[in-house]
Amino acid sequence: MERIYMDYGASTPVDKEVIEEMMPYFDKFYGNPSSIHSFGREAFDAVEESRKKIADIICANEDEMVFTSGGTESDNLAIKGIAFRNKKKRGSKGTHIITSAIEHPGVLTTCKYMEKIGFNVKYLPVDKHGLIDIKELEDAISKDTFLITIMFANNEIGTIEPMEKIGKIAKEHDVIFHTDAVQAVGKVPIDVNKLNIDLLALSSHKIYGPKGAGALYVRNGVKLQTIVHGGGLEKGLRSSTYNTPGVVGLGKACELGKIRIKKDMVYLKNLRDMLIKDILKIEESYLNGHPEKRLVNNAHFRFTAIEGESLNLMLDGKGIAAATGSACSSKKLQASHVLLAIGLKPEEAHGSLRLTLGRMNTKEDVEYVVEVLPEIVQNLRNMSPLWNR
Ligand SMILES: Cc1ncc(COP(=O)(O)O)c(C=O)c1O
Repeated sequence: MERIYMDYGASTPVDKEVIEEMMPYFDKFYGNPSSIHSFGREAFDAVEESRKKIADIICANEDEMVFTSGGTESDNLAIKGIAFRNKKKRGSKGTHIITSAIEHPGVLTTCKYMEKIGFNVKYLPVDKHGLIDIKELEDAISKDTFLITIMFANNEIGTIEPMEKIGKIAKEHDVIFHTDAVQAVGKVPIDVNKLNIDLLALSSHKIYGPKGAGALYVRNGVKLQTIVHGGGLEKGLRSSTYNTPGVVGLGKACELGKIRIKKDMVYLKNLRDMLIKDILKIEESYLNGHPEKRLVNNAHFRFTAIEGESLNLMLDGKGIAAATGSACSSKKLQASHVLLAIGLKPEEAHGSLRLTLGRMNTKEDVEYVVEVLPEIVQNLRNMSPLWNR
């Protein structure tokens, strides 16, 4: 059976050109980039070349990028790094963080931890489409607020938050603005200066790069305290020997992402809109997330009287890889915090399906999904005591 992958929001295949670029750094240029001999220098040059490419995709300077192991670590470094540094600087003041109720666990659980150790966190609610309210954000800022951390685009429902407005408010109030842009990079053009973003987390495996590589953008002048103590790499912010192949892969993925973004956006939006149009023809099916302000590759639905896990299993049986919520929460049987935050009842949240498209998907893939899905939904409803029409 041919298989169709529509879970690019969870992870992407590594682009062939990325693999090609990485290969020599496993067995040819394997020196430690910190070593001073020629082996080390070769690897060092590749790391620095990649730094430029990564900075370029978000219009930053290369000296503003810190390599990490991925989005989660970048989020942790951003939030803890600024909080610990700030606390040291201002004593007991500066204890207030503002975030949203729909963040990825990389931010959400870090914020919960910050609460445990004495910080105050405001979790902004979102509307039915998943958007924060800008006025509510501004009203939440107090003299103790030192950080706003709001995601660029939501990993489950695809809603894109009003970055420009948030950045403006943060700047006006002299508050640091961090954004988790793991899902947005490569799918939304990003200019950290235009958007007044101070800290930005990105991850390689969502943009056709290898897993286990990521970066944090740290605006020049923004000071963080490290959370990984060691030999002092990355201006002391992130020790541990460079993952040279990973960094090179992330660099190449960003380079290709920048070149292809315009084409990708048109291509993916087209496929996404086909999916949405045809899937919404199913009786009592609804689109989750914002109808327009959403990622070009994200289509998220809910179906009355459907259990998302069963739907996913049946789709898998037909060769279609999809997701119920986000990859991180799909093994827990709790309703997604994002879907509850947009006002869905737990049973509605459980009847959800996330389809996330990527470069390798085709019109035929979409046609197959829209052909197979209605029958699966109908079969599941026929077995459901909740569907008694
Ligand atoms: C919005 C968002 N932030 C952070 C992460 C975590 O990234 P990583 O897997 O690189 O740690 C993910 C991954 O699903 C994500 O979607």
